[in-house]
Amino acid sequence: MSILITGGAGYIGSHTCIELLESGFDIVVVDNLCNSSREAMKRVEALTGKSIPFYEADIRNPEAMTEVFKAHQIEAVIHFAGLKAVGESTRIPRTYYDNNVTGTLKLVEVMEQFNVHHLVFSSSATVYGDPAIVPITEDMPTGATTNPYGRSKYIVEEMLKDISASDNKWNFTLLRYFNPVGSHESGQIGEDPKGIPNNLMPFIAQVAVGKREQLSVFGDDYDTKDGTGVRDYIHVVDLAQGHVAAVKTHQQDAGLHIYNLGSGTGSSVLEMLQAFEKSCGKSLPYSIQPRRPGDIAECYADPSFAEKALSWKASRTVETMTDDTWRWQSGNPNGYES
Ligand code: NAD
Ligand code: WQD
Repeated sequence: MSILITGGAGYIGSHTCIELLESGFDIVVVDNLCNSSREAMKRVEALTGKSIPFYEADIRNPEAMTEVFKAHQIEAVIHFAGLKAVGESTRIPRTYYDNNVTGTLKLVEVMEQFNVHHLVFSSSATVYGDPAIVPITEDMPTGATTNPYGRSKYIVEEMLKDISASDNKWNFTLLRYFNPVGSHESGQIGEDPKGIPNNLMPFIAQVAVGKREQLSVFGDDYDTKDGTGVRDYIHVVDLAQGHVAAVKTHQQDAGLHIYNLGSGTGSSVLEMLQAFEKSCGKSLPYSIQPRRPGDIAECYADPSFAEKALSWKASRTVETMTDDTWRWQSGNPNGYES
């Protein structure tokens, strides 16, 4: 029996492949490589010493997906495949809804056809919108999303809730990630954004390696510890291990399970910058710029429910996150094309 990983060549998917293989699971990966590289899979194979059945296919293509389900005995699906750039989602919303919403629905249809009912879905803290209070617990309101990407995640959550309510065979786990950063400690795999990074950590890393001139800090007038935005950064290996814990915990457990996967600690933009400066051993240029539209002041998780139910906890520090990111970025300045 194997676990199917959609989007397994991507940033979080590739790290999760390693943790699953190291926990003894067999895996199969489907990825259309629209935001990733085959090289990531090769490195996962080299790191684990295992070969991974890989299909370059789109989750929206039922024929291709049927072939995968025919060729392997799939027991569960971890569904990472999707598009994730907030800004881009406002420019090409139909593409986002097609990939993220239609793609998930088509995947669920093929699963039903093959009698596979266990799905772990990559959701996001973005479904909480601008939270009234922090830390955020799973029962806080969702849906006040501010962009098509966020809405696509919210819509998929609602869709899966409806399917679960209609048929008690389904076993859905919705994992709401906070801000995943860092890399595998080997420095062999990591985040490899195409073009100008949208997210803070890859942007800082590219400044550190000389690919970008300086960091723009989007706003220093928020009501936060130092005026810059506060987020819950979680090491991607902790996040990957959270998936292993979720799959194991709910292996035989139909129903709907929802977890925040975060560290529970809020760090500011300037704190992340300072931590990165320590990791790379140099000071990094930055300038204060106006707030980025749609940004919120503060967002961090109450991760205690996941800790209790999954016996899992994010344990890696901000220093480990920046050290590991620097190892990856300095060793692979052009990502997988290095
Ligand atoms: P990523 O872009 O690195 O990985 C997504 C992978 O899915 C890529 O390899 C891409 O090629 C593949 N893909 C996209 N559309 C596909 C399709 N239609 N068919 C087959 N493959 C397809 O992104 P990531 O950071 O690893 O994110 C993984 C998941 O987690 C996404 O669903 C994302 O929305 C979600 N998420 C990410 C973050 C984050 O900050 N990175 C936060 C919360 C949630
Ligand atoms: C973090 C902080 C910025 C870049 C986004 C998505 C969310 C989720 C994770 C998928 C903020 C500041 C950033 C820069 C900066 N993705 N910043 N200069 O906005 O918390 O979340 O990614 O689900 O849906 O919205 O992450 O890394 O973009 O920003 O000052 O060049 O860094 O203002 O305070 P965010 P981020």
